[in-house]
Amino acid sequence: MKYTVKTTNFANIPTDCLVLGVYIGSKFTPSATATDRATKGLLTKLSKQGDISGACGNTLMVPTNDLIPAKRLLIVGLGDPKTLDSEEFSNILKVVGTTLQNTGSKNIAITLAEAKVKDRSFEKRSRLIVESFARSYYHFDILKKTKSKIGNLEKITLLAQSTTSAATVRKSVAEGQAISKGVKLACDLANLPGNICTPTYLATQARKLQKSHKLKVSIVNEQQMKTLKMGSLLSVSKGSREQAKLIVMEYHGAPKTSQPIVLIGKGLTFDAGGISIKPSGNMDEMKYDMCGGASVFGTLLAAAELKLRMNVVGIVPSSENLPDGAANKPGDIVTSMSGQTIEILNTDAEGRLILCDAITYSRRFKPAVVIDIATLTGACVIALGDPASGLFSNNDQLAEEILRSGTTSGDLAWRLPVWKQYQKQLESPFADIANIGGRGAGAITAACFLSRFTDDLNWAHLDIAGTAYHSGSQKGATGRPVNLLTQFLIDRASA
Ligand code: BES
Ligand code: MN
Ligand code: ZN
Repeated sequence: MKYTVKTTNFANIPTDCLVLGVYIGSKFTPSATATDRATKGLLTKLSKQGDISGACGNTLMVPTNDLIPAKRLLIVGLGDPKTLDSEEFSNILKVVGTTLQNTGSKNIAITLAEAKVKDRSFEKRSRLIVESFARSYYHFDILKKTKSKIGNLEKITLLAQSTTSAATVRKSVAEGQAISKGVKLACDLANLPGNICTPTYLATQARKLQKSHKLKVSIVNEQQMKTLKMGSLLSVSKGSREQAKLIVMEYHGAPKTSQPIVLIGKGLTFDAGGISIKPSGNMDEMKYDMCGGASVFGTLLAAAELKLRMNVVGIVPSSENLPDGAANKPGDIVTSMSGQTIEILNTDAEGRLILCDAITYSRRFKPAVVIDIATLTGACVIALGDPASGLFSNNDQLAEEILRSGTTSGDLAWRLPVWKQYQKQLESPFADIANIGGRGAGAITAACFLSRFTDDLNWAHLDIAGTAYHSGSQKGATGRPVNLLTQFLIDRASA
């Protein structure tokens, strides 16, 4: 999809479809008013007939019969301007996207950034249009013989208010496109099944990014992990026939002296639980246990697309977790790269076992900030559901910054504590630390486990078990939190 930004009166624009917003009570947006005038009161007539109510998400497609250069009008209900927020706005945009898929429109002109959205500026509304359209046009059908029909939209013209805002709208559109590419990459990787998307497959995808986006990529194999003494990561991979990989991708947009942001993403390409095997119902969803890693791929892609002036390192420890004669057994004790020993009381708490060695490995980059992203606990899904990712940090300022990135991008997170009162749940009589903390506060004790490896680092952890994918009839990856992470990087780079 190609975007152009224009400041002209959209009522006179030649296009296959002109998209106009109307509030509840048939109150017109400025472009709707202008179009009403240009069509000799067509919209007024339609609203008198009761065809345009302005109710949130209502759509009406009308041919213009050559009254104006636009072939059709798509009139979209925006609801109440007093309550319209970004959440509702993006839902409306998704409806618009889906509606357009069923028309012959190849190019459209969209004026919906005029909608008064409480928590979003004009530019941010334009960016939301780009993101929502990309989302409604996303279909994962690469493994189907029959592909889904999703219309033939090629060109989208966006409205800007004046020549001064045209530049900022263009910048927002570029951000929206970069984020959408990142989200798409994350979704594609995540939606692939475990038999295709293996640790080796992910490593190959990193090599592709190396070529297409000039990232520096290195892959640490099991032999090298042994040399590095990554006993914890290796123990998870022991029960699998696939070779574990630690994927390292570096984006350099600033001088070498500038300390990087390190993003570490859990890359469990399938988590059966190991010997502490999971129940079989919905176990297929554990192909999504690499969504943290996928979000790191997506965010690096977005950062490179935007040519952000900063350094970012992405680290994706990747493995399978399967039951096997060589697999970890409950009670096994392994030695992590940090030297701390871990008693594995539950082999299904494997994410933290691979992440802790990746965190220790990340120290070589002298990071300004380390953020790990992981589908780490079912407990986080119970605590927060799917609206927000769980956020944990040893630094209040960093936590605030990440929460803000969440609100600015609409990809929300909510903070939970990593207090020392919870740390005692991880005590082990036989090792330095146990890998589980009992029934209570499961998302927090998982974060507490990771915190044992981060002491002097400026660290945050995002538990995305509830946000990274949908179950049930809408099953599929969401691409979260690529949006939050990219926003974090954009804001850091411009600070
Ligand atoms: N990958 C799972 C967490 C998960 C659960 C993600 C549900 C998405 C949906 C993780 O490896 C896991 O199995 N965690 C255990 C930890 C427990 C054994 C302490 C869990 O949450 O049950
Ligand atoms: Mn598990
Ligand atoms: Zn897992």
